[in-house]
Formats: sequence, structure tokens, C-alpha cells
Amino acid sequence: FNYQTARFMTSAPSLVQCPPDQGVEVAFAGRSNAGKSSAINAITCQKALARTSRTPGRTQLINFFALGADEARRLVDLPGYGYAKVPEAVKREWQQHLADYLQARRSLQGVVLVMDVRHPLTEFDQTLLGWADEQDMPVHILLTKADKLKSGAARAALQQVRSRLREWEDLVSLQLFSSLKRQGVDEACARLDAWLAE
Ligand code: GTP
Ligand code: MG
Repeated sequence: FNYQTARFMTSAPSLVQCPPDQGVEVAFAGRSNAGKSSAINAITCQKALARTSRTPGRTQLINFFALGADEARRLVDLPGYGYAKVPEAVKREWQQHLADYLQARRSLQGVVLVMDVRHPLTEFDQTLLGWADEQDMPVHILLTKADKLKSGAARAALQQVRSRLREWEDLVSLQLFSSLKRQGVDEACARLDAWLAE
């Protein structure tokens, strides 16, 4: 697919306001500030398609991006979870939205789970992997901000996360990624291609 043709479709505050559950979509999940929106921009070669910010919690809505002329194939930028300054009740509400979305969304083909390579597998990352496992939903992990580590340390981090995810290896794939250096974009696109072709 040509990800460069991606365009903003709509924002939804919750599952009920999402676009019709038709066609296929891939969602980007991960903790606040992990680099989800930046990864979408790197993959689509657009500087500001998804809004990024140094302030965690920037993306509060579910943002939909259409690939190509129709809206049958979509990328979805999910709000980050675990942002400390958000009240506990709001956090719980978001986690519920996310769980509902993963469970109910028929067009969802896979989840790209974005983790900072320096802080992988947070508690909520593991919760999300558990939900995905319940749904038999495949997950592709981007260990992003790999540019922040020397290449040996980044490879070691990749190996470590891989070994910790052995129990989920049928459902989970992973790679190093950097939006800043555009590292790993082709590998990520290959995974998206496979999901979106379904
Ligand atoms: P929320 O929308 O708040 O959940 O955050 P997000 O996961 O969408 O993160 P976002 O893409 O906005 O990036 C957060 C910060 O990390 C920004 O300051 C980005 O510039 C920075 N960042 C993202 N990806 C990379 C990367 O690959 N390398 C480096 N060095 N910085 C990155
Ligand atoms: Mg974001």
C-alpha cells in the first residue's frame, strides 16, 4: 500500500462514535509519549498527519486516517494510556474504551503496540497483550526511539523483550524502530501490508 496517501478522516471520543465498522483497520496503541503518533507520521512520510507532542497525553481522541481514496483501509491512532496527570477515574474510563474497542471492532486486523525501547513492557502494555491474547488479535511491537540507544544496546533490548514474550510468540512480533531516523519503517510497512490485505 501507499501509506503516503493517508489522510485524516475523523476523531472519535469513544467507540460508539467511530466510523462504520467496515473494511479493515490497524490501530496504534501504547503508553502516553511512547511515540505512536510519530510512528504513524514516519510510516506515512507526513510530518504532521498525526499530532505529536512533548507533552504526554496529547492524543485524547481515537483518530482515524484513511489510506487511499476510499475509507476501506484505515490506520487508527489511539490515545496513550497511563498518563500520570490524568485522574484515576478518567484513566479507568479510557482503559475501558480501549478494551471495548479491541473486543468489539470487527474491522480491526491487528494492533501495533508502541513501546519506548528504554521502557518496554509496562504493566499496562502487559494488560493490553492479555486482552489481545483473549481476542486472538495479532500484535506487532515497535520498540521505538531506538536512536536513543547505541545499536548494541538496542539489539540487546530487542532480545530481552523477545525472550519475555515467548509465551505469546504465536501472536506477537517485534522490531526496533525509530521515527526520528526512519529506522524499521519498511519492516513495519510489511506487517501492515499483510494485515490490511485481509
Ligand atoms: P500521546 O499521543 O500523548 O499518547 O503520545 P504519542 O505516543 O503519540 O507520542 P508522540 O508521537 O507524540 O511522541 C512523543 C515524544 O517523543 C515527542 O517529543 C516525539 O518527538 C518523541 N519521539 C517520538 N518518536 C521518537 C523517536 O523515534 N526518536 C526520538 N528521539 N524521539 C521520538
Ligand atoms: Mg499521540
